Amino acid sequence: MKTFGDVRALDGVDLDVPEGTVLGLLGPNGAGKTTTVRVLTTLLRPDSGRAVVAGVDVLKHPNEVRRSIGLSGQFAAVDEYLTGRENLHMVGRLYQMSGRAAKARAAELLERFGLADAADRPAKTYSGGMRRRLDLAAALVVSPPVMFMDEPTTGLDPRNRQALWEVIQELVAGGTTLLLTTQYLEEADHLAHEICVVDHGRVIARGTSDQLKARTGGERVEVVVHRPDEIAAGREVLAAFGRSGAVTVEEHTRRLTVPVTGGAKLLAEVIRELDARGVEIDDIGLRRPTLDDVFISLTGHAAEQKDAPDAPDAAGATAASRKDPLK
Ligand SMILES: Nc1ncnc2c1ncn2[C@@H]1O[C@H](COP(=O)(O)OP(=O)(O)OP(=O)(O)O)[C@@H](O)[C@H]1O
Ligand SMILES: [Mg+2]
Repeated sequence: MKTFGDVRALDGVDLDVPEGTVLGLLGPNGAGKTTTVRVLTTLLRPDSGRAVVAGVDVLKHPNEVRRSIGLSGQFAAVDEYLTGRENLHMVGRLYQMSGRAAKARAAELLERFGLADAADRPAKTYSGGMRRRLDLAAALVVSPPVMFMDEPTTGLDPRNRQALWEVIQELVAGGTTLLLTTQYLEEADHLAHEICVVDHGRVIARGTSDQLKARTGGERVEVVVHRPDEIAAGREVLAAFGRSGAVTVEEHTRRLTVPVTGGAKLLAEVIRELDARGVEIDDIGLRRPTLDDVFISLTGHAAEQKDAPDAPDAAGATAASRKDPLK
């Protein structure tokens, strides 16, 4: 457990990551992801609890733990005045690589992260995404047995995100155990063997991505009706097809969503029924659950929303417990 004033940042986070696998820690802003990473990487002492990394007790032997881990933090830790190349070279030297090996590794990483052209410019001239990439490259200079990456792809464009995913997959194929935090289910989906969903400093669900999605109610049918006055009829139709009957409505975009089982065949039936009721549609589709869906289903409200119009009771109860962090 870890409290900051009255905020219980961690309130019983219980994790274990089998060697050589990736655990994705998923959660909204303020869930406790960074705090968890800071405790496990010896940067923060919890008020109570126990943590073991690479077989070593984090609280009793922090120095020993530091020797076997690597960390890429949420905020870049690069030296502004050094060039990209110098930053990476310095990290290699700090980890006791030979000058030649450090240079070669720096050049390789600069290339992989699309920083070769900017390699000899001071880091202070880099854009936000370039800094982020340099920071990630710095974390990958050596391949420690246990790696921690805190939201590694936040702020990266799709091409660089893909590049990082590849580097991470290679790292894990080489035997590294990874704890990765992210706000994107898609990313956890792609990289993580197992996913832990945290909210308010607590693990609220754990499983493979398929298990979580199944718990969330599988696929969604999403319909955008043409006119605001068609929302009510659209909602009735979807409620009849929905697995749990819980239709989510976004009034301003006229978007209705419901968890379903039955796939494409069901979609055709929904279209027929909407047509029969005279509901005109702008868009309709079947999609896989998103992180928001996981949240709505696990907590009764969206990750960022204050309350959910469709579940006033559940949302009310959650809002009340949110105000009192000691509950
Ligand atoms: N040093 C600190 N002092 C006071 N409160 C803190 C401190 N660090 C974290 N907190 C609080 O602890 C809670 C968890 O924060 P944490 O940084 O772990 O969240 P997170 O899951 O990493 O969120 P994000 O997605 O925004 O990075 C938040 O309520 C935060 O305000
Ligand atoms: Mg964080």
